[in-house]
Amino acid sequence: MLRRQTLDLCERSLTSRLAARRALHASCTRGQSSTSSSTPGEHNPSSSLSSNGSSSAFPDSRASAGGEGTTHFGYQDVPLSSKVDLVRGVFSSVASSYDVMNDAMSVGVHRLWKDHFVAELNPRGGIKCLDVAGGTGDIGLRLLDHAREKHSDRQTQVTLLDINPSMLRAGQRRLAKTMYWNTDQLRFALGNAEDLRLHLDSPPPKSPLSAFAASPNKPKLPPLEHLEIEDESVDLYTIAFGIRNCTHIDKVLKEAHRVLKPGGVFACLEFGKVNVPGLSDLYRAYSHAVLPSLGAVLASDRASYQYLVESIERFPTQPDFARMVAQAGFHLPGSPQAERWGLPAYPEQRSWDGDESVNGAWEDLSFGIATIWKGMKL
Ligand SMILES: C[S@@+](CC[C@H](N)C(=O)[O-])C[C@H]1O[C@@H](n2cnc3c(N)ncnc32)[C@H](O)[C@@H]1O
Repeated sequence: MLRRQTLDLCERSLTSRLAARRALHASCTRGQSSTSSSTPGEHNPSSSLSSNGSSSAFPDSRASAGGEGTTHFGYQDVPLSSKVDLVRGVFSSVASSYDVMNDAMSVGVHRLWKDHFVAELNPRGGIKCLDVAGGTGDIGLRLLDHAREKHSDRQTQVTLLDINPSMLRAGQRRLAKTMYWNTDQLRFALGNAEDLRLHLDSPPPKSPLSAFAASPNKPKLPPLEHLEIEDESVDLYTIAFGIRNCTHIDKVLKEAHRVLKPGGVFACLEFGKVNVPGLSDLYRAYSHAVLPSLGAVLASDRASYQYLVESIERFPTQPDFARMVAQAGFHLPGSPQAERWGLPAYPEQRSWDGDESVNGAWEDLSFGIATIWKGMKL
């Protein structure tokens, strides 16, 4: 019985890995034709927000003639309904090596970006934070540490929500070693950023025994929760390096707006577009040459890291994403309303495409390799 369950689990995880690999392999052979119309990494103006502000032209979801719409998974086009499983396959595959790989790929710089992201948000005062696509807890832990260290605040709460049980389990194992474990400051929820009311199926425990086997190195992990995130229940919504993996970015933003209280802040840290011409070529060459190879060597998983590189290139430009945030109903930094409520403009950045309505709306880190966007719900 035990053996059968273990085999089932192995098979399931292998299947998701293989599905992701097969899809990625297909992208290598099929992708040449599907990407020939636009150079990967280049912004395709026809696929960004239309000038009348409608999001239907956003490349994330396109209707295919006479059938289900398609979306991108890295460089390849896939049916809309399959992207979520493909992405889940990638993160199931990388979960155990995720933290090591993050350090290796960014030479540790991702830590500085995340420190800065959280320091600027300055969580305090017993607020409720929702860290969506929270993964292994990098942002959640920083939010709690910041509130405690800078403001002696042990009331601020963080819910770490992710679609992938393997990533959340890795987060639980890590956070079990902190003082927040087993307190009401910290919760782990399985959920989809696109619908924060949805109940997802949790995987069964690895074996009937493993749920009870606790030791300092192998703490007992509680079941992942199913939470319906209610309207206007959250003070701070964060999403770091997660939104580009979602099928419908507009739905994610709409959900963020729904769950935030009036006066609440949406904050997104994501890969941006490098804003220095020579450097952007160098960065692109580095991403394509080095990252998949690092994935192959350190995590025995070239395909997942190839997907990560491609997904970064497919993400909208800084002004395009700022417009999407505004379109979801948020007030952007730089707007008089947001400023009045304490969300000042980022002074050093100007819109690249002449759209002054998004001036001051985002902050580039490391020349735009990463970018912070914020919005305020009023
Ligand atoms: C690159 S990791 C980022 C993790 C963490 N936020 C960090 O900064 O280290 C992306 C995470 O997004 C999660 N994810 C992808 N699609 C999602 C969705 N639709 N809803 C919730 N989480 C999602 C993945 O499972 C993964 O844990």
